[in-house]
Amino acid sequence: MANVGMAPSSHDLDLRCADVMPRAVKISHHKSQQTAAPLIPPKPTIANLRTAAAGCKACDLWERATQTVFGEGSVHAKVVFVGEQPGDREDLAGHPFVGPAGRLLDQALAEAGIARNDVYITNVVKHFNWAPDQRGKRRIHKKPRYWEINACRPWLDAELAVVKPEVLVCLGATAAQALLGKDFSVLRRRGELVKSSLAPHVMATVHPSSILRAIDDESRRQQMQAFIEDLRKIVPLIHKVGKAA
Ligand code: URA
Repeated sequence: MANVGMAPSSHDLDLRCADVMPRAVKISHHKSQQTAAPLIPPKPTIANLRTAAAGCKACDLWERATQTVFGEGSVHAKVVFVGEQPGDREDLAGHPFVGPAGRLLDQALAEAGIARNDVYITNVVKHFNWAPDQRGKRRIHKKPRYWEINACRPWLDAELAVVKPEVLVCLGATAAQALLGKDFSVLRRRGELVKSSLAPHVMATVHPSSILRAIDDESRRQQMQAFIEDLRKIVPLIHKVGKAA
C-alpha cells in the first residue's frame, strides 16, 4: 500500500505514493507545485505508467474518485486524442471515453474512417472531479483546476513520449488550453493544424460532450457533422506515414 508507514504532514499529504516513488525524490511543499513527476518510472512504458498512475495522489482528486483512469489504445497509434478528464461512467469502469461522450466519439471516428482500435485515447486529468448534486444523489462533473491539470501533466507527457504520435487531437477547451496555451480558442481555431512541439501535427476540436448538450436534434446533427469534418482532416496525415496506426 502506498501510504503504510508514512506520517504525512499537512504539507506533504498529497504525494504519498511511497511504493512507486524513487527514494531520493524531493517533495514540493506547495500544493500548486506538486506534480506526478516523481512517480514516472525511469523507463516508461504504457504498462508501467498505468501501474504507477494507479497510486497517484499528486493532487486531491484521487480522494473522491473510484480509480485512476489512464489512457488506452495502441502504443503504435499514430493519433492520440486528449480529452479533459474521465466522467462518471469512466470513473466506475476505469476506461477513458466509455460513457455517452465516448459513444459519440466512436461514432464520429467511424464516420471519419478512423478505427478506435487504431488510436490512443487519454485525458489531461486522470481522476474524475465531481461534486454531489443538491440532493446528494448524482455526481456532477467539475472542471479540473489549473493545479490539478499541472499535477497530472507528467502522465500525459510520458504517454506522448512513449506513443510518439504523428497527430495529436485536443478534444475541447480544457485539453486545448492545457496543451496549446491558456488563450487558445477552440471556437475560433477548431480544425486548424497548429504548430506545437508535442507532435508533428496538432489540432484542437470540440469536446464530444458539447455535442450532447446541443439544444435540439438539428443543431446536434450539424455539430456532429462539423466534428466529423474536423476528424476527417487528420485522415490523410495518418495514412501519409508507413507506421501502422
Ligand atoms: N470526457 C472526457 O474528457 N474524457 C473521458 O474519458 C470521458 C468524458
